[in-house]
Amino acid sequence: MSALDAAWAALAAHAAHAKKWSLRALFAEDPERFARCSLVFEDLVFDFSKQLVRTETLELLCALARAADLESWRARMFAGAHINSTEDRAALHVALRHRGPEPILCDGRDVMPEVRAELAKMRAFAEAVRSGAVRGARGHSFSDVVNIGIGGSDLGPQMVCRALAHLAPPDLRVHFVSNVDGAHLSPLLARLDPARTLFIVASKTFTTQETMQNAASARAWLTAALGEEAIAQHFVAVSTNAQAVRSFGIPPERSFGFWDWVGGRFSLWSAIGLPIALLLGFARFEELLEGAHSMDRHFATAPLARNLPVVHALLAVWNRDLLGFSTRAVLPYDQRLERLPAFLQQLEMESNGKRVRRDGQPVGRPTCPIVWGEVGTNGQHAFFQLLHQGTEIVPCEFIACVNPDHHLPGHHEKLLANLLAQTQALAFGRTEAEAREALAKAGVRGERLELLARHRTFPGNRPSSTILLDRLTPRALGRLIALFEHSVFVQGVLWEINSFDQWGVELGKELAARLLPALEGGREPQELDPSTRGLLRHIIERRAGIAAQR
Ligand code: F6P
Repeated sequence: MSALDAAWAALAAHAAHAKKWSLRALFAEDPERFARCSLVFEDLVFDFSKQLVRTETLELLCALARAADLESWRARMFAGAHINSTEDRAALHVALRHRGPEPILCDGRDVMPEVRAELAKMRAFAEAVRSGAVRGARGHSFSDVVNIGIGGSDLGPQMVCRALAHLAPPDLRVHFVSNVDGAHLSPLLARLDPARTLFIVASKTFTTQETMQNAASARAWLTAALGEEAIAQHFVAVSTNAQAVRSFGIPPERSFGFWDWVGGRFSLWSAIGLPIALLLGFARFEELLEGAHSMDRHFATAPLARNLPVVHALLAVWNRDLLGFSTRAVLPYDQRLERLPAFLQQLEMESNGKRVRRDGQPVGRPTCPIVWGEVGTNGQHAFFQLLHQGTEIVPCEFIACVNPDHHLPGHHEKLLANLLAQTQALAFGRTEAEAREALAKAGVRGERLELLARHRTFPGNRPSSTILLDRLTPRALGRLIALFEHSVFVQGVLWEINSFDQWGVELGKELAARLLPALEGGREPQELDPSTRGLLRHIIERRAGIAAQR
């Protein structure tokens, strides 16, 4: 048996006991449990004492990490090795936020001079737009920036812009258009003034269908109002494909680059973060990078058992593989983090939603859970019923700031009281005896008391973690995102998968390309299955019918 198989086997034996543990008992037997099961990094607190773990669990999980060679994979990532093996590339997003003078090598070359040059170009452009030195074709300063991109070219910058909007100036708005559904772009264009609108076409490949369609429509809208010559002043591009950007008509000075060693979902630290720099100013974008860099240093150097991304990942694997929980809820108790669940869905599920190992063999155990979530307290009035009393156990991750950035009295205390209460209710529940006692006190008697007591019992023992930040600053957010990024990588190492490719998105793209000509009035593809053929013909016939009526 390999060391890795032995580590999994030891954990499986341990988990057989863990399935009988109760969080009530774990807390009762260890008054120091909070101190023992929480980690602090700068002002970030990660409390995992309400997870179904003991000290021995963490020791066994750390042994698993060692058996999976985590420390050497981590070193290889920082050293620019081609750990993205199926695409034969490095995964070097840490270089994008590296702040020190040291070189970072990739394929024998120091990438830092290029990284710094691109950051300097972003800074110059962002400052010029914000000051009004760069203007549109009619001489107006820009009031609206529209980022056209999808997936990693949308979710990261969008999440950050929303999270830190309290730091944005009142006279600049940033919009994000991703969906190929014209219902996304069309109503936005209807509200905008072309003379004051700047478009960012953000696409690593500059071939993504949705982005290219939206960019073409935006371009047609702009040129209809301001003429072809306006393109160069109203469009910028962020891409690794300089050739395609040029063909679109965007000049090199308005084109921002990045590198194939930056995965889309890890790219918000590159020029893909241009909307962030435009909205918040470059100094704040740099604070975001600094926050991520400080987490990178911690991840690279802290011992496994005190290492936040490592412990975060070990708990995720414990819940998924050993306790058998198939989903994970991300619950930010902060309205500004409303796009965090969507961002994490791509980060985690596109990275680790895989069934074969790096060597092509089946993983043989469950990999990435389904990640979902919603901001609190909204979720409490929607799906928390299931979290507390449903038949599915969902490990939850609560995230909140100790201090708000608004001045409305009375809100933040209620928000935090709710967060704490939910973690308590999930962990400790309410026994049937306790429910019966509460009902009796309220004057309920007899059969009705017996019936209601069953409905009002909370099983508890439902694991959760809580992350607290002092305040939602760019630095704190950068640190938080980097924590999740590294956790995703660590989980991938434990499952022996490559977290940096995404072949699972390809088949759908190919099939859509085969079907598109038929929807555009051309021939139906041959050898179509009866269901798809039936649906396709229905759409074509109904659309023809509607067209005939017009
Ligand atoms: O389809 C998935 C994907 O390739 C993501 O990985 C990526 O973030 C997104 O599409 C957008 O790709 P691009 O930046 O090349 O337009």
